[in-house]
Amino acid sequence: MIVLGIESSCDETAAAIVDSERQIRANLILSQLDEHRPFGGVVPEVAARSHLDHLDKLIAAAMQEAGLGYDQLDGIAATGGPGLIGGVIVGAMTGKAIAAVHRKPFIAVNHLEGHALTARLTDNVAFPYLLLLVSGGHCQLLIVEGVGLYRRLGATIDDAVGEAFDKAAKLLGLGYPGGPAVERAAAQAQAPVTDLPRPMKGRADCNFSFSGLKTALRQRVDARRAAGTFDAVAQADLAAGFQMAAIDTLCDRTAQAARIARDLAPGLSALVVAGGVAANLALRARLQAIAATAGLAFVAPPGRLCTDNAAMIAWAGLERLRLGESSSLDFAPRPRWPLDQNAPGLSGAGVKA
Ligand code: KG4
Ligand code: ZN
Repeated sequence: MIVLGIESSCDETAAAIVDSERQIRANLILSQLDEHRPFGGVVPEVAARSHLDHLDKLIAAAMQEAGLGYDQLDGIAATGGPGLIGGVIVGAMTGKAIAAVHRKPFIAVNHLEGHALTARLTDNVAFPYLLLLVSGGHCQLLIVEGVGLYRRLGATIDDAVGEAFDKAAKLLGLGYPGGPAVERAAAQAQAPVTDLPRPMKGRADCNFSFSGLKTALRQRVDARRAAGTFDAVAQADLAAGFQMAAIDTLCDRTAQAARIARDLAPGLSALVVAGGVAANLALRARLQAIAATAGLAFVAPPGRLCTDNAAMIAWAGLERLRLGESSSLDFAPRPRWPLDQNAPGLSGAGVKA
C-alpha cells in the first residue's frame, strides 16, 4: 500500500509518501518561519495563504521524488483537524480533489493521531503503549490501545508545554520559534536557576499545568531587568532553569502515568514520546530513564518526525486504510478534534468504516 499525506494545520506546508513496508518514499516540509517571524508567532491568515501558494507544487515535488504517478497511490490522506482552520481547509480540499480526480480513497486524519502513531512508522511499536504527546497546542498522556483507541490519563489544565516554551522564549528575548531557542540557550547556562516551580508535581492524577511556571519566569526576568542584570548569562541560566522545571514536571507526570497504565493496560509495550517538544534532547534523555525504571522500552521518533510533517499523516491514513476505513468527500474540516472518544464535545470520529 502507498499513501500520499498532506499536512497544513499550522505553519508547516508538508507532503509525504509512505508505504506499508514503513518506507518513507518522500517527506517534504516547507516551513513558513520567515513569513511569521516579524509577528513573533503564527498568523492564521498568513499561514492559510501560504499553504495555498505552495501546496500544489510541494505535492508534485513529493510525487516526483518518489517516482510515482497518482494511479499508483492507494489513498490520499490529509489533516482534517485540529488546527488553524484556514490551513486545514486548504490541505483537506486539495486532498479531496486529488482523491476525486484519480478515484482514490480519501482519509481525513486527526493531526494528533498522526503524532500518536508515528512510533509505529519509525519503530513498529506494538499496541498498547503509553504516549506522552507534547506539542505547541497539546500536552497529554494517553494509552494507545489501537488505531482510533485512545484512553486519556491526563492533560494540561492550562497551557500546552510547547506553548510554554514559546512564551518563555518570548519573555527571555530569544525569539521565535521558542522551543529550539530555549534548548540552545539552556546549553550555554553557567549556573542554571534551580528554584522555579514544578506545578502538579507529586499529584495522584496525571494532569499538567504550566501557567504558574511561566508567571514565575516572568517575575524573575522582570526583577533582573529592573536590577540591570539581565544579560546573556542570565538569559541562559533562566532558560536552563525553565527547561529543567518543565522537564521535571513532564517526567513526574509521565512516571505517575506509567504506574497507572500498567494496571489499566497489561502488556504495555513502551513509553513513546511524540509531538514537537519531543525533539528536545534533554527531555528525551530524562524520559529514557523514566521508561527504564518502569520496565518499559523507550521510543522517540527522530526529531524531524516529531515536529509537524506529512509522513505521519500519510502513515496514520495508511493505518486507517488497511483497516478498511476511509472518509467521505463531504468531510468538514475541524478546528477542534479531541483524540480520545470520551472527550467532551466529540461528535464522531469523522472516519467511516
Ligand atoms: O508538533 P508541532 O511541530 O506543532 C504542533 O502541532 O503544535 O510542535 C511545535 C511545538 C512548538 O511549541 C515548539 O516550540 C516546540 O514544539 N518545540 C520544542 C522543540 N522543538 C520544537 N520545544 C522544546 N524543545 C525543542 N527542541
Ligand atoms: Zn503537531
